[in-house]
Amino acid sequence: MPRSPLIAPSLLSADFARLAEETARIADADWVHVDVMDAHFVPNLTLGAPVVEAIQRVSPVPLDCHLMITDPERWAPAYAELGARNVTVHAEACTGDPRAVARDLRAAGALAGLAIRPGTPLEPYVEVLRDFDTLLVMSVEPGFGGQSFIADVLSKVREARRLVDTGHLELLVEIDGGINADTIEAAAEAGVDVFVAGSAVYGADDPAVAIAALRAQAARSFPAS
Ligand code: DX5
Ligand code: ZN
Repeated sequence: MPRSPLIAPSLLSADFARLAEETARIADADWVHVDVMDAHFVPNLTLGAPVVEAIQRVSPVPLDCHLMITDPERWAPAYAELGARNVTVHAEACTGDPRAVARDLRAAGALAGLAIRPGTPLEPYVEVLRDFDTLLVMSVEPGFGGQSFIADVLSKVREARRLVDTGHLELLVEIDGGINADTIEAAAEAGVDVFVAGSAVYGADDPAVAIAALRAQAARSFPAS
């Protein structure tokens, strides 16, 4: 079956005073990406489970929670329990085997995601990733929206795509950071399935138009299968 791109606008670039309206503006998206930051794993603080639960109640699209927090084993299952579709923890933040948290997330009914920073290699996590449903390749240093895309990470995307295409892994490859009209084609060609875009969607005059344009660009650039 041909793959189709999933577009996940990041609420980090939305107006936090109007989160319900901001999710309504991206009703055409596939997932809404929610960046949870704890001022420890990254030098920024955003929101936590009570606010994510409120977003979950009003969002027209499933939640994709990106946990940039320490001690994810302790905190991540709550996001699955509140109904998020996908919950991603950072490999660098896990204190034990990340497969334990994957099991907890799946048991709570969510997809389990593993994220790696731009400088973190993929290779040590290949076997662990057999227990995950999504791999989030960060294409900026986590912490802030509006940064420039780090194209070097595409080699990790290509390797992950190869591992999926050969059947070694069964997961969606997600990319986060600096995705816009100038960068999405390279990411799609490299093998990304899920495209997070914050400033490119919420910085546009009409987020729905931006989502449609990004989706069309990505679909055109998908390798023929
Ligand atoms: C950064 C966050 C991203 C951010 C992306 O740490 O994980 O999700 O919102 O924003 P843009 O698309 O503007 O780079
Ligand atoms: Zn993110």
